[in-house]
Amino acid sequence: MTRPTEMRYPNTQRLLPRLSSQLEMKMEEHIMDTVMEATYYMPNDENEKERLDMMHELMLTMMGRKLFLSPIGSSPHRVLDLGTGTGVWAMDFADQFPSAEVIGIDLSPIQPRFVPPNVKFIIDDFDDTWVEKDFDFIHGRYLAGSSKDFAKLLRECYKNAAPGGWVEFQEWDTDLFSQDGSTDGSSIKQYYELLNGEFAKIGRVINTGPRLETWIRDAGFKNVQVKKYLVPMGAWPKDKHLKTLGAWNLVEAESGFEAGIMAILTRHAGWSKEEVDILVAKTRSDAKNPAIHTLFNFYVVYGQKQED
Ligand SMILES: C[S@@+](CC[C@H](N)C(=O)[O-])C[C@H]1O[C@@H](n2cnc3c(N)ncnc32)[C@H](O)[C@@H]1O
Repeated sequence: MTRPTEMRYPNTQRLLPRLSSQLEMKMEEHIMDTVMEATYYMPNDENEKERLDMMHELMLTMMGRKLFLSPIGSSPHRVLDLGTGTGVWAMDFADQFPSAEVIGIDLSPIQPRFVPPNVKFIIDDFDDTWVEKDFDFIHGRYLAGSSKDFAKLLRECYKNAAPGGWVEFQEWDTDLFSQDGSTDGSSIKQYYELLNGEFAKIGRVINTGPRLETWIRDAGFKNVQVKKYLVPMGAWPKDKHLKTLGAWNLVEAESGFEAGIMAILTRHAGWSKEEVDILVAKTRSDAKNPAIHTLFNFYVVYGQKQED
């Protein structure tokens, strides 16, 4: 049964004009669900919300508990979080910077009902033309496969950043590797090759991390900085920090493997659900195998819009 729109979109505001009748609200809800189904390839259920919150913890651990690296100063005003998901980054940011007005935008209304007073969530498609402008800081994290055109999205960020404002994107390199050849011929390697290849075939970039610098520079941002983090899969490393990161990554990936690949393989590559289930089970088993030493790079890239 469809829930009333105001319950499905608690505490949110939409960019679309307010609609007056119940029928128009239902149409709007249906339009957003259709956009979500057509343009995004991950689920938005309870498991996925939990997984995103685990990913948040993984990223905070990786970045020494920092939410971002850009030198934005102590009192940013207008802040935008693209593809905010559960809104956890936006809410943490708002708590740390009470002076800021933080907007989180997402196709999917999965944000909580009670949020800090300086946060608002907007349900909309960030690939559309923006109506909100003059941001001191624009942040996008883990948006792989989400935008139809990242180069255009970064140009939109440039257009709508305030002079002197910063943009920061944080993204995975989905080309896994190992230093000892232990991933060669593994199912986990096959999984990521399929993921990269099948998204590329439908014109979506899933391997966003290594491309960020080019997109950000080409959009016109200056003072561009690139930071690359090493993240293992599994608790096999001897180094304590890497071991912790690897353990978080494994817990998060246990549900993420299915979430990441089911839609693309069944909708576009002709796989059955059962075939995907087998690949996912083998991939999970490789991820847990302490003899397979999977590594990823994670990129944080930021740049500044020039003062006029
Ligand atoms: C993998 S999640 C990352 C969530 C969040 N950034 C984080 O780091 O926890 C990607 C999010 O982007 C949203 N998304 C995907 N395509 C979008 C679009 N075109 N416009 C707005 N949001 C989008 C999805 O609904 C999902 O919540």
